[in-house]
Amino acid sequence: MHNFEYLPGVTAAEYLDACRAHHPALYERLSLDRMLANRGTYQTSTVFEGSDKGGRGDTYRQTQVRYPLARTRGIKALFDALLPGGGAGKYVLDVLGGNGTLTHTMRLITPPAELPEIFTGDAAGSMVTDALARGYPTVRQLAQSLLLADQTMDGVIFAYGTHHVPVPDRVTALREAHRVLRHGGRVLVQDFVEHSPTARWYSEVLEKYTLTGHDCVHFTEAGLAELLHEAGFADVRVSKVYDPCVVWADSADEAWVELLQYLIDLFSLERLRPKPGQDHWRMVRDLLSPYAEHLVDDGRLDPILVYPDGGRFAAELPRVALVATGERPA
Ligand SMILES: C[S@@+](CC[C@H](N)C(=O)[O-])C[C@H]1O[C@@H](n2cnc3c(N)ncnc32)[C@H](O)[C@@H]1O
Repeated sequence: MHNFEYLPGVTAAEYLDACRAHHPALYERLSLDRMLANRGTYQTSTVFEGSDKGGRGDTYRQTQVRYPLARTRGIKALFDALLPGGGAGKYVLDVLGGNGTLTHTMRLITPPAELPEIFTGDAAGSMVTDALARGYPTVRQLAQSLLLADQTMDGVIFAYGTHHVPVPDRVTALREAHRVLRHGGRVLVQDFVEHSPTARWYSEVLEKYTLTGHDCVHFTEAGLAELLHEAGFADVRVSKVYDPCVVWADSADEAWVELLQYLIDLFSLERLRPKPGQDHWRMVRDLLSPYAEHLVDDGRLDPILVYPDGGRFAAELPRVALVATGERPA
């Protein structure tokens, strides 16, 4: 019955056998009926497929793995808001999970006894294949139609990509989160305020310098709150969270270049890759600096920060995320 292709070169039956053996907690929470009913959706691809499919997922995946601590501050703040009582014994679905960035970072920064069990979800076959190869419990599914069974999760998180869910599908995706949450469970949605420097980073820099473009709509505070209410959530709270990208190197100059290289690789800014014979990094630095966004506008002139840190130098791109949480009523 589950003999259709679910992941590239892998049938649903083969995936389920491996999931039962290696990730029993995820397997027990999957709805096999929903997996069958959704069989027409598994060829859906996103811009995060590999370059063989015209996507920008290859460099994204490699960069995440190379810099697992770059977004630690934001990721930790998201989990603190999602699970205020701590993560021990809790099950969290990371709906737009890519190749498992949140799992990877949380495992590096959290004592094992306090770590929630994180299930990575994603629509892109190449992301899911990579996350599974890294040993993370992962499921290929669309945010709009999850494969988790009803009331199986304590937390559901949409982060670092919510703008990729088409506007008309957003309430459907949140209703799906509501369905899979236990009563009292919490959803968290992270994205960026439309027209803010960080949102413009996507609409201007990614649109111009990637090969895929970036045609996505971001959020407003009121619109995000309304979405959560419409999906049935209670106790909806919206706030801003400081969510920078930070990398480290041995000197201040190297830290600058490391940050610019990180941003070019992570976001596949192919048209900004180094060209010989130019003052390339100075040009990239001038181009990207106006998109830094501080939580508190304190009038600093040079918004990308470079500072000594633990015997090395850190380079920090300030970003401010919009974060909403809501509870499935008890
Ligand atoms: C920017 S990446 C973020 C990945 C990861 N959360 C991180 O921070 O590194 C966004 C991810 O969302 C996935 N995605 C986009 N639209 C989706 C949808 N409708 N359902 C499920 N996944 C989706 C993409 O395939 C991609 O892997």
